[in-house]
Formats: sequence, structure tokens, C-alpha cells
Amino acid sequence: MTLWGGRFSEDPHEELMTFTADRSDRRLLQDDLLGSAAHTRMLGEVGLLSEEEARQLVEAIGDLLEEAREGRFEFDDADEDVHAAVERRLHDAIGPLSGKLHTGRSRNDQVALDLRLYLSRATHRRVAQLKSFGRILADKAEEVGDTVVPSYTHLQQAQAIPLAHHLLAYAWMLLRDIERLEEAERRIAISPLGAGASGGSSLPLDPRIVADELGMTGTFANSLDAVSSRDFVAEYAFCCAQALTHLSRLGEELVLWSTTEFGWVTFADRFTTGSSALPQKKNADIAELVRGKAARVIGDLTGLLTLQKGLPLSYNRDLQEDKAAVFDADDTLAGALAALSGMVASAEFDPPAPSSWVTALDLAEILVERGIPFREAHQAVGRLVARLLSEGKTLAEVSAGELEAAHLSFIPEDLEIIDPKVSVERRRTAGGGSYVSVLDQLAELRSLLGEA
Ligand code: ARG
Repeated sequence: MTLWGGRFSEDPHEELMTFTADRSDRRLLQDDLLGSAAHTRMLGEVGLLSEEEARQLVEAIGDLLEEAREGRFEFDDADEDVHAAVERRLHDAIGPLSGKLHTGRSRNDQVALDLRLYLSRATHRRVAQLKSFGRILADKAEEVGDTVVPSYTHLQQAQAIPLAHHLLAYAWMLLRDIERLEEAERRIAISPLGAGASGGSSLPLDPRIVADELGMTGTFANSLDAVSSRDFVAEYAFCCAQALTHLSRLGEELVLWSTTEFGWVTFADRFTTGSSALPQKKNADIAELVRGKAARVIGDLTGLLTLQKGLPLSYNRDLQEDKAAVFDADDTLAGALAALSGMVASAEFDPPAPSSWVTALDLAEILVERGIPFREAHQAVGRLVARLLSEGKTLAEVSAGELEAAHLSFIPEDLEIIDPKVSVERRRTAGGGSYVSVLDQLAELRSLLGEA
């Protein structure tokens, strides 16, 4: 059903309806009903509906809400959108009184309200999932204890660090994803209802009542902005895209770390897949798909920005396309978090010790402590590295004599620091790759991420 027959002399063509009707908005049903109930109460309070009319309408909307919650609400393929479906069902239930629901309202402010309510709720769900995944990372960091791995720059071994430090780097990224979503939600929870089709209404509406009733933080300041802006949708999609981009980087590392070449980690069989052709294979497909799906969500965000670009004020039907994109972004993030959580929780880490080369900076810093300029210390250790490499040796094989030959300020006891574990123990920088820093981070993350 459509909501606009009056000025037309023929029925809508089938192709028009096929092309323009929306199905993606059906998941806004509950929000549409909640918004409609709040709108009805407001109409009652300002006297546009009698008390009895408002009561009857709110009750009928309540029944539909129950149908919606129990999955009993029936859509009709002829419904132009979710708003038309609700009015059709209301008309079935209470007859002509249903025609008063749309008083002072347009689908333009209505759909913006519905989407804002939906994304507000989605924010809380995604934040809960992100927190839970952050806690899994913190648990893993605790579990791997004092395991040392190399840090990498340019994918070359750089310095010795606790594996926990590497895992916690992702927890901090997720924490910012959480903050970003929560901040975005403040802008999402603004009610556009009362803006009408574009310029407001001659009726004595009170947008504040609707916003309060729905627990939203404020109302619109400009009706054109209220019905036509979708920055809140793009921002939500950005939050999803950025979080998935973080997960994608982690996914890439999990794939790399589970290779025979790295041999750092194995995952439970139930979170890995096999090959139809190669019997020996055990693949980290969840991690690969997280990486792949990040690409799709970046596409959703790009689509949402492009949708707004060049669109004249105020509402245009183009905006109907916002829903499929943002739902896809949100669903994909939800799915990635659920799957990756199980996989990471099942991870067993057993990385090989880093090579002794990761202590080269420690040798240079020992000289710095003795007053040698860093550049000179760097040169001396660099020359030592080159010599050892040309002799086919590693830093672990250097002798006290060779060390003293590399720089006069070295002493034989300095050989002791050519050990990745010692390197980690000597690390001092707050937030650096030391055990003390890991413990500090764990305490702070635990308090920020809260309990399950
Ligand atoms: N389904 C439409 C959307 O998602 C609802 C608003 C339609 N407004 C209109 N004037 N045709 O944007």
C-alpha cells in the first residue's frame, strides 16, 4: 500500500513499485512503532488528539509492537515501506482513527527518527561486543605471561617485547572504537520529529515531548538539516569500518602467525577450516574473512558519503539507500566480533624466541648510558653487526673481545644483555614493551572494559 493516492488518476505501475519500494527498512519496525507511540502521546498532550483517541491509538500501536517482538507482524509485498505497512495494519485494527497518526508528521522526519533509534540501540550492542572482545585479548595477554617475541617494523624483527604487549595494542585500538561509537551516539540520539516534510508544521507540535519520551538527548535546530542529513549514518558506518579495519589488521597477523613459517599460534579445530583438496590444511578462515569483510564495510562507508555528496536540500528519495549500507556495516562488524572472539579465545601461543639481533639497540643504549653520543654508539654496533653477518654469526655468538673491539666503552659483562628476555627486563619507558608496562596496561584496560 502507498500513503499518497489522492492526487493520482492511475495506480502505480508494477515496475515503479518494484524499483522504489523498500524492504531493507523492515528491521526498523519496532523503532517505527516506538516513535509512533511517542508521537501519538505528544499529539494527545498538545490537544491535537483527544485523550480517548490518543489512548486508543497508543494501545493499538502497543499491540503491533507485541506482534513485532514476537515476529508475528505480517508485511505485504505491496507495502511501499515500513511506515506504510504500519499504517495499513493500524487501519485494519482500528479503522479511520489510524488516519490521525500521521498528523504533523512526514515519512521524511519519521524515517530519520527510526534510523536514529535503531542506531542508538545498535551502538550499545556493538560496544558490549567490543568490550567483551577487549576482555578476551586481556585474558590472552595474561595467559601468555612472560613470553617474549620480536616487535616488527617493516616486517623485520625490531626489539624484544612481551607477546602480551603486542596483544594489548589491539585492546587499546578497540577501546578507541568503543569511545568513538559512544561519542557518535550522542549525535545520533537527536530527535528529528516535528521537522515534518521539510519546513515544520502550522500545528502546535512539541518536539521536546517526543524526544524526552524516547530518551533522546535533544531535538533538531533546523528542520531541513533534520530531514536531509545523514552524517550520523556515515559516522556510524565509519565507526564500523574503523573497528573492522583494526580487526582486519589483527586478522592478518593471526593468519601470518599461524603459518608453518611463523609457528606462533594454533587455533582450536572448531574455529578453523579445512581444504577440500589438501588433506593437511588447517586454515584461519575467520581471520581471512574478517580481512575481506573489512573491504566491504569500507565500501558501505564510501557509498554513504557518495549518497550525500551533491544532494540538494532537503529530503530526496536517494536517502532510502542509506539503510541497506549501514545495516550491512553494522551486521558485518557484529558477525566479525562474534566469530573472531571464539577464535582468539581458543588460541594457543607458543612462539619461538626472537633472534639475538633484537638486542642490538640495547647494546647501543649501554654506550649512551656511558656518555657516548647515540650516533657514535649506533655506528659502532652497526659495524659489529656487519662483521658478524659477514662471518655468518649472530649477535649471540659475539665474544667479549669482539665486543670491546667494537667500542672501547664496552665491557665483558655487557654480553649479558644480548638476551631478548634481559632486553625486555631493562625496558623502562612507560607504555613500552616491558612487563611492568603490561601489568599497568592490564589494570587500566580491565577497569575501562569493565566486567562481563
Ligand atoms: N522509505 C523512505 C526512506 O527510506 C521513507 C521516506 C519516504 N519519503 C518520501 N517523501 N517519499 O527514505
